[in-house]
Amino acid sequence: MAELDAVLALATRLAREAGAIQKARYESSFAIGTKSQPIDLVTEVDHACEAHIVGALARERPHDAVLAEEGRGEDRSDAPWRWVIDPLDGTTNFAHGYPRFAVSIGVESQGEPALGVVYDPLLDELYHAVAGGGAFRNGRRLRVSHEAAFERALLATGFSYDKAVSEDDNVAEFRAVLKAARELRRDGSAALDLCYVAGGRLDGYWEHKLERWDVAAGGLIVREAGGRVTDRAGGESWRSGHELVATNGAIHDALLALLARVRSG
Ligand code: IPD
Ligand code: CA
Ligand code: CA
Repeated sequence: MAELDAVLALATRLAREAGAIQKARYESSFAIGTKSQPIDLVTEVDHACEAHIVGALARERPHDAVLAEEGRGEDRSDAPWRWVIDPLDGTTNFAHGYPRFAVSIGVESQGEPALGVVYDPLLDELYHAVAGGGAFRNGRRLRVSHEAAFERALLATGFSYDKAVSEDDNVAEFRAVLKAARELRRDGSAALDLCYVAGGRLDGYWEHKLERWDVAAGGLIVREAGGRVTDRAGGESWRSGHELVATNGAIHDALLALLARVRSG
């Protein structure tokens, strides 16, 4: 228990420190490169945040495994603790000066989600959850919404970086949910979308082709706030990020059924 508390304190400190780097460099000039596609951006600030977090872990937790989006650290299967890090979630927003991005740090213990921390530096909103211990925003307990009527629900989604070249582009799903729900957002940070489901600002969120670092912290935060997180079949494979559906629970089956109907044509 004492070790879990120490890991949470460190994850919180590092999320705040990386968030401070983001806030200081927001709307300044920084180098921008591309990754898997011309629209898949990475900035100097993504790298600075990751170097800060992973550098600190190398000094303070040298035996832990690290899976970080931009490739720093060493992911090992024999380590009891594993850090899953998205140093800047919402890079496209950050690059355009759109104020919605965050640091996301999930930690697994013996392969299971142990805790998650997501920090939005512009709003100074710190989300955290410990498995079995509830979810919090700036220390206040979070609960998912109670909305059970799909037609009154506010949802969010996102589109993968291969949308220009893949048929599996989420556009048909977007159209179907847009028509059936009250409203639908695409706001560009999977980690914050998940935290907004946890806090009741959104009733549901789904996305395909995410990665582990996008969902490691936010998925646990939704569950600890009383929500449901599954893959598209209602199963547990969401932790890979490849298929993720997160809701308040009350609209979950309706969203799964709608997405399945779109898929089956
Ligand atoms: C992206 C954001 C975005 C989602 C993309 C992610 P990044 O992460 O979370 O909302 O739609 O699928 O890749 O690249 O900004 O860390
Ligand atoms: Ca991300
Ligand atoms: Ca990122």
